[in-house]
Amino acid sequence: MKVIAINGSPHGDKGNTWLILGPFLEGMRAAGAEVKVFETKSLTIRPCQGEYSCWFRTPGRCFQDDDMQTLLPELLTANVLVLATPLYVDGMAGPLKMVVDRMIPMGEPRIVSREDHCRHPGRGDVEDRKIAMVSNCGFWELDNFDALVAHVKAIAKNLDATFAGALLRPHGPALKAMLDQHMPVADVLDAARDAGRQLVETGSIAPETLSAVSRPLLPRDMYVAIANEHMARRG
Ligand SMILES: Cc1cc2nc3c(=O)[nH]c(=O)nc-3n(C[C@H](O)[C@H](O)[C@H](O)COP(=O)(O)O)c2cc1C
Repeated sequence: MKVIAINGSPHGDKGNTWLILGPFLEGMRAAGAEVKVFETKSLTIRPCQGEYSCWFRTPGRCFQDDDMQTLLPELLTANVLVLATPLYVDGMAGPLKMVVDRMIPMGEPRIVSREDHCRHPGRGDVEDRKIAMVSNCGFWELDNFDALVAHVKAIAKNLDATFAGALLRPHGPALKAMLDQHMPVADVLDAARDAGRQLVETGSIAPETLSAVSRPLLPRDMYVAIANEHMARRG
């Protein structure tokens, strides 16, 4: 099984998003998957120009000579795509959305009906491609991710893939702080690792494993008080 993960955090493997993405990918590797990680901060991928040369002039290939030329062939042969991002203004980080827009040559330039809905047929030989997501946010409540999860589910349908689940870490900055202070939060990382193993071994992730990744780390009032104190000190 081939897994391609794209991390949209500007902090790369030093960020909060990576704290969950890292063990998730570790679990997949341990279960035998071949995993490659791409960081948007290290890629040059320009915005889609919407002129459709990737459909009509040079089918499957964008005219822009940037890092999407390397990433697209990897995506076309991936069984699992992991989209990882910090929550930015209730959505994914801009550089990751630019990469997703540039995935348009993964579809063919014709419209078919799937589940009574207009879609483009997918290119490539991968049967049942899966999309999983990892996200991290600063606010305390899990429902901050609702708009992003709805978006990624829609992206999966658009790309003729199956949505395989979301590893969501609300009040994410607390996880790093608690790990640094050796507080008992290793179970959250274990759950992320287990989610990766499950996805490779069974093709899905148990809802209770996803809940364990998102579990409250401390009461909301306490988190807000600590966060405000921290921001006041920085300001
Ligand atoms: C531009 C920007 C927008 C953000 N928007 C939200 C938001 O809408 N909701 C939220 O809960 N956190 C928001 N955050 C906080 C980040 O999601 C949070 O700090 C996250 O842990 C960062 O992950 P990273 O270290 O991987 O970059 C925002 C942060 C930035 C810089």
